[in-house]
Parts: sequence; structure tokens; C-alpha cells
Amino acid sequence: MIVLGVETSCDETSVALVRDGRDVLANVVASQAELHRRYGGVFPEVASRQHVLSIVPVFKDAISRAQVGWEDVSAVAVTYGPGLVGSLVVGLNFAKALALARGLPFIGINHLEGHIYSAWLRLSPDDSPPEPRFPALVLIVSGGHTELVLMRDHSQYTLLGHTLDDAAGEAFDKVARMLGLPYPGGPHIQRAAEQGNPEAFRFPRAWLPETYHFSFSGLKTAVWREVRRYLPDGEEVSRPRPGQMPEEQAALPVHDLAASFQQAVVDVLVAKTVRAARDFSVQEVILAGGVAANRPLRQQLATALRELSVPLRPAPLSLCTDNAAMIAGAAYWRLQRGERSSLDLDAEPNVALADRPERAVTLRSRTPARGQ
Ligand code: KG4
Ligand code: ZN
Repeated sequence: MIVLGVETSCDETSVALVRDGRDVLANVVASQAELHRRYGGVFPEVASRQHVLSIVPVFKDAISRAQVGWEDVSAVAVTYGPGLVGSLVVGLNFAKALALARGLPFIGINHLEGHIYSAWLRLSPDDSPPEPRFPALVLIVSGGHTELVLMRDHSQYTLLGHTLDDAAGEAFDKVARMLGLPYPGGPHIQRAAEQGNPEAFRFPRAWLPETYHFSFSGLKTAVWREVRRYLPDGEEVSRPRPGQMPEEQAALPVHDLAASFQQAVVDVLVAKTVRAARDFSVQEVILAGGVAANRPLRQQLATALRELSVPLRPAPLSLCTDNAAMIAGAAYWRLQRGERSSLDLDAEPNVALADRPERAVTLRSRTPARGQ
């Protein structure tokens, strides 16, 4: 079964073709990062207008790269939320038009579910990701979300914890801005941190004991307080071109600040994930979302889970940030069960993956995880 996926929830326009929920035949992503850089974040109106311009060329490119004809495509899948409403409707209407014109089954997919299924995709026939094993614990860390989800089976999600304020990726982006690094900040912080000392600054870790929740706003404020100490009164950090450090900011210890900030984020993400993995006796841990591309996070989480003998299944690096392959991948399992969406499906900018429990899920174990 070849599924054609469409993703336009934020600032990437993407179309992909995936066979049997596993093999990525083509995954074309047109990033708008350059367009939004001057705003230091995604400018919604600019994003939706750019999706309108990009969607047809991206689609044509994907079809030609996959080397398949229309007769080989079995269904059309699209992200219907969460995301920016003006961006979502572009992909949604495009996918509906394709399905209608070709008489193909149509299905809407939750963007976060897409991120999860990116971990089970195969970019080349030589890769061999094993079958999904349940229960699985999922850490989704992106620009808009930081969630720990228990997955008992396909489409069965229980939200164990979420961020109470900023998402991890949002914290990376905001701190990058403070340090004068370009948007999106995550990869630039990681690069700057490679030459820094993660122990140079003792930034706070919000352990939020008794829950699997996260909080990154205190950490962000602590970094800002430190940055201000290096700047003359009232002076803003000017934004350098990628890879350049302006002379007036030479005094700012960007590398040490980036490394210490990154370590604080990684410490909390690793400790909470390891604890949940142990508490719920999971078969594997999935790491997905844009921040899952972070090398220290991948390495340190894998090391910590090895002690529990729980395998870590991180999404392939190139599929961590938004892409349509993950949407087509997730759609396969639902289509297999006969699920379809109506062509009346609306964009749902705030749709959740799993209901938030009325009371926070409290920790199952009393023994603190490493670092807590
Ligand atoms: O999943 P994604 O592409 O979009 C959302 O659904 O939000 O995630 C984008 C986020 C951005 O905040 C970006 O800074 C972060 O992922 N990111 C990283 C890295 N690469 C991307 N954060 C830390 N380290 C990275 N290497
Ligand atoms: Zn995303």
C-alpha cells in the first residue's frame, strides 16, 4: 500500500510517498526557515502564503522522485492539526482535492502521531527497523510540544506528562535568540555547545517532583539573567549572520552558555523519560520531534536506557523535524484498520494526541531516577 502524505502544519511544506508504513519512496520538504529568520520565529501569514506557492511544485517533485504513477497510490493522508490554522488548511484542501479527483481514500492524521511513527520509517532498504513493540514510551520534543506519552498499542495513547510552559524546542529557539544565534535555534545551540563547557553555569533544573511534567521557563529566565550581566545596560543582543560572532558580543561566553543550557534541558528530559520507562515497564522508548535531532540528547538517553535494558528508537535524523513521510507512515496503520476521514474534515489547530488527565499522573515509583 503506497500512501501519499501531505504536511503543512507550520513552516515546512512537505509531500511524501511511503510504502506499507515503512519504506520512504520520496520525502520532499521545502523549508521556509530562511523566510522567517528575520522575525526570529514563524510568522503565520507569511507561512500560509508560502505553502500556497510551494505545495504544487513540492508535490510534483515527490511524485517524480518516487518513480510511481497515480495507479500505484492507494490513499491520501494529511495533517489536520495541531498547528497554525492558515498553514493547515493549505495542505488539507490540497490533499482533499487530490483524493476527490482520483477517487482515493482520504485520512486526516494528528501531527504528533506523525512524529511518533517517524521512528519506524526506513529511508533505505538496508535499514531494518524492527516492528513496533508495545507498550512503548514516547518522548515527543518539538517546537510546540514536550510530551511523555504511554502507547499501549497503535493509536492508544495516555498522556503521562507535558510541559507546563515552554516546549523544549521553544526554549532552544528563545535562548538562541538571546545569544544572537539564528532561528531555528536548536541546531545552532548544539553547534555552539560543542565548544563549550556544560558545567560552566549551574542553571536550574525543574524536577517538578511527583509528576512526569516539564517546565523550561525558569531555565530560560536564568539564561537571560546571565546574558544581561555581559551586556551594557539596555543593549540588545544583535543578530549575527550564521556562524559569525559580532565583535560587540565577543565578551558573551556563547559556547559555555549554550552548553550549560543544553545540558540542563537534556538532564531533565533524560531523567523523566528513564523514570517513566522503568515505572511502566515499556518494551521500547521512541524519541521524536525536532529536538530529537539533538545529539547529546540522543546519546545520553540511549546510555541511560541501556542500564534498564530498554532499547531507544530515535527517529532517523532527517525525519526529526516536520515532514510528510511521518504522516504517510502513521496513516498506513489506521488505513489498514479501515479508518477513513470525511472530506468535511476541518483543520484543528489545538487538537491533542491524548486527553489530558484531570489530575496529573503521579510517579509510580518513589526511587528517584539518576540526577534527581
Ligand atoms: O518538530 P519540529 O520540526 O516542529 C514542530 O512541530 O514544532 O521541531 C522544530 C524544533 C525547533 O524548535 C528547533 O529549534 C528544534 O526543533 N531543533 C533542535 C535541533 N534541531 C531542531 N533542538 C535541539 N537540537 C537540535 N539539533
Ligand atoms: Zn512537528
